[in-house]
Amino acid sequence: MRSVAAATPRVDVQHVDLGARSYDVVVGDGLVDEVGGRLRPMLSSPRVVVVSDANVAPLYLARVERSLAAAGFACSSVVVPAGEGTKDFAHLEDLVERIVVVGIERTTPLIALGGGVVGDITGLAAGLLLRGLPYVQVPTTLLSQVDSAVGGKTAINSRHGKNLIGLFHQPCAVLADVGTLATLESRQVRAGYAEVVKYGLIGNAAFFAWLERNGAAVCSGDVDARRRAVLTSCAAKGAIVAADEREAGERALLNLGHTFGHALEAEAGYSDTLLHGEAVAVGMALAFALSARLGLCPPGDADRVVRHLAAVGLPTGFADLVHGAWSAEALVRHMTRDKKVQDGRITLILAHGIGQAVIRRDVEADTVRHFLAEAVAARP
Ligand SMILES: NC(=O)c1ccc[n+]([C@@H]2O[C@H](COP(=O)([O-])OP(=O)(O)OC[C@H]3O[C@@H](n4cnc5c(N)ncnc54)[C@H](O)[C@@H]3O)[C@@H](O)[C@H]2O)c1
Ligand SMILES: [Zn+2]
Repeated sequence: MRSVAAATPRVDVQHVDLGARSYDVVVGDGLVDEVGGRLRPMLSSPRVVVVSDANVAPLYLARVERSLAAAGFACSSVVVPAGEGTKDFAHLEDLVERIVVVGIERTTPLIALGGGVVGDITGLAAGLLLRGLPYVQVPTTLLSQVDSAVGGKTAINSRHGKNLIGLFHQPCAVLADVGTLATLESRQVRAGYAEVVKYGLIGNAAFFAWLERNGAAVCSGDVDARRRAVLTSCAAKGAIVAADEREAGERALLNLGHTFGHALEAEAGYSDTLLHGEAVAVGMALAFALSARLGLCPPGDADRVVRHLAAVGLPTGFADLVHGAWSAEALVRHMTRDKKVQDGRITLILAHGIGQAVIRRDVEADTVRHFLAEAVAARP
């Protein structure tokens, strides 16, 4: 398969090396106008199906359709409702039936134009239809550009938990247009930024230091800073996914801040009072604080994490979570129910320092309970 990376200076390309399933992540400004031209050399299909949501379609769908038509693709589009509620069986069924009606063959690619919700449900639909269609991610939120569009995890939610119904199905290209972030609400940008910080904390102290200097620019809309942040994040995620595509080991590092974060989200009822990235920000601060408490990590590093997240306006502890009566007991209950529990012990991503995250499968639930009880009690 040929590369989507035409040699223009406005874009950067990160290759994700997965053997026969390898693909390029292209990061640039204005890529929504180039989707057709970039895909033409690598896709033989005369037609494509674009999937977008009701917020993103009015902003970017016409531009994507124009570029596809200019490149000679016959294009059909399907618009799904915006929001997490779309990630269920009813919407998946509706989506796949609408795509079938449009007319598809084994080589017909789906193009996911939107945030992580569109990416996840489109990827899953692609994996299921005709036992596997190719698909392309055109992520339009910071979170989806730095996280969900890369790596091939697709899913919808069960009544009993998030992302429980899904497939590994890698995209054949990712086109991340940082220009689309200009229309994204600043709270959503900050939530995605938490995942950017995560990559610095997991394995790249120099990137974290760069973010300390440039995080405000990334959050406030500086296109060059955004390009660098997205590219570095995709490189980090791509490397981890290439080493451990199916999360047998190292890929779990990507859950830094997420075991705490998922418990907070569950307690908040997955509502708008706490976005995923906000929960992850608190979760990362807690993971570093616990690491320091256990003597794994210098307390100064835990302080730096809190200072940086707070500097860009992300929550870092229970004092910032004004909604909800938090209970350590309830949070630990969620954590022991999480997918990442083995033999009753909690698997947590802790750290020896900034850029040195480690997977610990041996953390006693009691230790976590005491630690969280103190953190909750410190709330004014
Ligand atoms: N597959 C994975 O590996 C993976 C990883 C992380 C998260 N996820 C999933 O991603 C989802 C969250 O993704 P998200 O944060 O992108 O949420 P989202 O897709 O719901 O997008 C957030 C909101 O922004 C709107 N929007 C999107 N792009 C816009 C733009 N450019 N301008 C204006 N509005 C825009 C959307 O319509 C939506 O209302 C969750 O379902 C989560 O489970 C998946
Ligand atoms: Zn996340």
